Amino acid sequence: MNDNLQSVLHPAGWDATIISHFAWVLFGAGALIFVAVMLLLALSLRPQGRPARAALWIGGGGIAFPIVVLSALLGWSTWRSTQLAPQTSRDALSISVTAKMWWWEVRYHDPVSGREIVSANEIHIPVGRPVYLGLNAADVIHSLWIPALAGKRDMVPGRVTGLTLRADKPGIYRGQCAEYCGAQHAKMALHVIASTPDEFNAWLARQALPAAPADNQVLERGRSAFLEQRCQACHTIRGVSEDTRLGPDLTHVGSRTHIGAGTLRTHRDSLTSWIANPQAAKPGVFMPGSQDLDRDTLDALATYLEHLK
Ligand code: CUA
Repeated sequence: MNDNLQSVLHPAGWDATIISHFAWVLFGAGALIFVAVMLLLALSLRPQGRPARAALWIGGGGIAFPIVVLSALLGWSTWRSTQLAPQTSRDALSISVTAKMWWWEVRYHDPVSGREIVSANEIHIPVGRPVYLGLNAADVIHSLWIPALAGKRDMVPGRVTGLTLRADKPGIYRGQCAEYCGAQHAKMALHVIASTPDEFNAWLARQALPAAPADNQVLERGRSAFLEQRCQACHTIRGVSEDTRLGPDLTHVGSRTHIGAGTLRTHRDSLTSWIANPQAAKPGVFMPGSQDLDRDTLDALATYLEHLK
């Protein structure tokens, strides 16, 4: 399985493959023409002087050749562009993504209950099936770019744009905000996790469940700390605190590969340092720190969050 692949040179999806064909054909044609022009330049600089029939070279090489080559490339690239996935797609799986400073809210439709399942900073998709991402922004303009899967699409407040992804192989594909959106633009990343349709359905069913119960003393202490520290003012944990969308939904935060929108690997230690002082990992982030929390409570809170698989 590819891990954290963020590369236009290793396309793993439908659109990315077409885009990489564009790049290689244009690069190849450009390189060939550059070499040919340099050879002609070298020939023309020989001491024998001007080549014969200079007018033919100018007319042929300077006018006819570019017209033929550029028209051919334009025709080919226009034809190939029509094969890019459409921005909207009726029979695709539909997922909503809202960009916020500086993270991503991801909402799935639960086929069983018909309700929305809210998650963050990870887009799970089944391999081989077109997935329509409805894109929106909550504050400023952002842009979604997952280089291994597709081209960029801007996310504009008050407008819904769309991007259809189709991953050809299972893997974890890193994506990045591609429009400068403030202090932590560079740390506004996400991961697309493409798995087999069965794995995807099993994952979605688990995400639809409410948060795992706090079934021992440490977890109960962590859950209480979550409420006492007023974390629920910004974060939802379904079954514990509901319907706040200022910060990422944490119902299954322990199942995600990263916290802080791709900033840190999910682990009890990274959760502890993030809760104590998120500014250290991501200066400017809107989450306040909890440096006054005692060590045991902090550990219990981190243990509880990591347990929310
Ligand atoms: Cu969001 Cu840059």
